[in-house]
Amino acid sequence: ETVEWEAASYDMGGHDTYMHKEMSEQAEAVDRVLRGRIDDRFSTVHLGGLNLDAREARGVRRIKILGCGTSYHAGLIGAGLIEELARIPADAEPASEFRYRNPVVDPDTLYIAVSQSGETYDVLAAVQELKRKGARVLGVVNVVGSAIAREADGGTYVHAGPEVCVVSTKCFTNTVVAFALLALHLGRIRDLSVADGKRIIEGLRKLPGQIEEILAMEPEIEKLAKEYAGAQSMMFIGRVRGYPVALEASLKLKEISYIHAEAYPASELKHGPLALIEPALPTVAIVPDDDLLEKNRAALEEIKARSGRILAVAHQNQEKADHTIVVPKNENELDPILMGIPLQLFAYHTALAMGRDIDKPRNLAKSVTVE
Ligand code: AGP
Repeated sequence: ETVEWEAASYDMGGHDTYMHKEMSEQAEAVDRVLRGRIDDRFSTVHLGGLNLDAREARGVRRIKILGCGTSYHAGLIGAGLIEELARIPADAEPASEFRYRNPVVDPDTLYIAVSQSGETYDVLAAVQELKRKGARVLGVVNVVGSAIAREADGGTYVHAGPEVCVVSTKCFTNTVVAFALLALHLGRIRDLSVADGKRIIEGLRKLPGQIEEILAMEPEIEKLAKEYAGAQSMMFIGRVRGYPVALEASLKLKEISYIHAEAYPASELKHGPLALIEPALPTVAIVPDDDLLEKNRAALEEIKARSGRILAVAHQNQEKADHTIVVPKNENELDPILMGIPLQLFAYHTALAMGRDIDKPRNLAKSVTVE
């Protein structure tokens, strides 16, 4: 399955930067990854190139996801989705760490390599090492026919379209959606009910419209970004589904604004980083309306009690926060897909306010093809 890209898609198309263009393409990109894959009759999805039949899928005891940077963060959300929807133990690890520690390769584990470019050396080397040891490796890759796609035993393309900017935005979102599809597919082969399958499919169909709603909030986010642009450092917190969103948002801010940022699970604050909280260190908090809402609110109170400034990304206004970006609600499992998008815009406008060269951040390359 291949997709032809026209030269026109490499134009800036009226945007000032590729990053802005690519962020603004996210609704259509998500629409593309969903297209032709939903099967309403069985409340599932079909992923043509997996090369994993139902019997083999049932035999998978564990899933290990490998990637670098933003792709690793997408893999963390993917692992959460697989555990929630398919109830298969799953985790994600930076591909480089994995290959340097002489990993135990288990025949009942399914390995998944994640990469936008499909050329990242650390990921490719991990895939080659796994295959040498006889493991089955799938690819979740954007660039069709890339090295990792060719090396993998099967997998799924992410269909984000060409991503030119060094920092990944639309490919992150599409990769997470691709993981939601894979998790739904595996779930419906195993124990996910028809009703839950339907619920997730309805949620997936809502995503493009909700992404448009978030993108329309850009003027409000731009204003907020200008307020925070003077910060020396920022803290990002989230819990369970929200933690990888915090990790990715902090990476985006670091890459293009060069503001130091750290991401922590909200529950870990009290085990150390709370010592850093003071008025000069703002916190960005991911606060979805789910079963952990009250716990997250308690963390905001802790921060407020230390006079920390708080920017919340939430489904309703947060009293303890100085500012809340209110995003549309989806199914709990799919919320992380949407909650990162306003923070891409936030990083973008922070960097812009600081006069950074957004498409060419210092010291970085689009794909890291060396060790
Ligand atoms: C993303 O904003 C980064 N520039 C970087 O972390 C990137 O995601 C990483 O190098 C992996 O690249 P890949 O997805 O092409 O393998």
